[in-house]
Amino acid sequence: MDQFYSIAIDGPSGAGKSTIAKAAAKELGFVYLDTGAIYRTVAWHITMMGIGPKDTDHVPMLLDDANIKIDFQPDGQHMILNGKDITQEIRTPEIASVASQAAAQPSVREFLLDMQRDLAKTHNIIMDGRDIGTVVLPNASVKIYLTATPEARAMRRYQEYLEKGQKASYEEVLADQKKRDYDDSHRKIAPLKQAKDAVLVDTTEMDLQESINYCVALIREKLGL
Ligand code: DC
Repeated sequence: MDQFYSIAIDGPSGAGKSTIAKAAAKELGFVYLDTGAIYRTVAWHITMMGIGPKDTDHVPMLLDDANIKIDFQPDGQHMILNGKDITQEIRTPEIASVASQAAAQPSVREFLLDMQRDLAKTHNIIMDGRDIGTVVLPNASVKIYLTATPEARAMRRYQEYLEKGQKASYEEVLADQKKRDYDDSHRKIAPLKQAKDAVLVDTTEMDLQESINYCVALIREKLGL
């Protein structure tokens, strides 16, 4: 029996995982870990070093030089790579795409596994990602598989870009997302898939607040809180 509660929220990009996990963590007083940000940090590192995400010779070598620290600040999770805060820099579609490709490399997944598991040993935690319920925390106290139709997810992402003042086209966001969905769920190692004991939550017809309320109620019920 785990000493701390751990909640796994997996699903494709744009399903609302991070917003829901963040809100649920705040409400329950748990730590929130965005595991995608760790993969994005690796993606940033290899990109800065001029190495492609599919380069199986050089990526493992570069991991030795990556000192990744996660700093939990009041305004959220900060990613520190070799002493530099790159929290903002990793939030681009390009880095998301490199992260998705690099995440298919066994060396990358192995490198990040202990970091994620160690946090769950010492905190009540909510983690979101692709393989939390299946690989990282197979004994998680609660597992949620959060999804929505590709069109609904792409529309949310598209609106986020517009709100941030970034240029975007809905068709491109949708195509990019479908490619990432495909790559994330078809890779050989730790593919995106619903764990057998995960609860499926489809947010297509829910707004954000409804999704948060639904997930928090589900977690409370499962944990008896
Ligand atoms: O959640 P995100 O969009 O920030 O994640 C970026 C990429 O990182 C995603 O396309 C796949 C990869 N990833 C992963 O393979 N496993 C995780 N637990 C989290 C992210």
